[in-house]
Amino acid sequence: LVDENVLRLHGTAVEEALGRFAHHVMPVPSGEASKSFAFLDRVLAEMFRRLVNRQWVCMAIGGGVTGDLAGFAASVYMRGIPVVQAATTLLAQVDSSMGGKTAVNSEFGKNLVGTFFQPLFVLSDTAFLDTLDAAQLRSAMAEVVKYGCIRDEALFNEIAKHAGSGFGDEALFDIISRCAAIKADVVNRDELDTGERMLLNFGHTVGHAIEKATGYGRI
Ligand code: GLY
Repeated sequence: LVDENVLRLHGTAVEEALGRFAHHVMPVPSGEASKSFAFLDRVLAEMFRRLVNRQWVCMAIGGGVTGDLAGFAASVYMRGIPVVQAATTLLAQVDSSMGGKTAVNSEFGKNLVGTFFQPLFVLSDTAFLDTLDAAQLRSAMAEVVKYGCIRDEALFNEIAKHAGSGFGDEALFDIISRCAAIKADVVNRDELDTGERMLLNFGHTVGHAIEKATGYGRI
């Protein structure tokens, strides 16, 4: 499952990378609307039509929407086929691709129907970040600030230092690695979100409420 913007911008590279494997590409429209029961149904139907079996691997190439949707589809298709998360947005690289949370949205709230389903591995290629727009980067930096607030004061101070001037490739790589290390550490101790992992929801809860109240996708 590949985010449609990723296909548009990096389709050739994606096809080249997948070329030596038998594969089918299904585009996922960008935006929260794709994290719906209706679209999940289409994904599962496509997998049945393509005769996907339990020897297959489902690969998510995109941001949080594609990753959550593909992870959920993989976790329920034939009671579970392996999933790989290839994160192409900064937000996915610092948070959503790791830790095994999958979901679709329901009328009762964001991410309320889903599974914990760990990927075989997570691939974060920072080259994808070059084509992200400023709003996407800003939104992801809020997630990085979260890690600073909950666990890493030095990271918080470094972000403050860069504010206004932006981040070079090396700084960004360092930030992604540090966020990933914090997340892995927390998830290793509380995979199922019954205690310490709730820290990772810092800021999410109010954000989800805003998204639900505005119909997902507008804010
Ligand atoms: N995004 C929060 C978590 O993975 O727990």
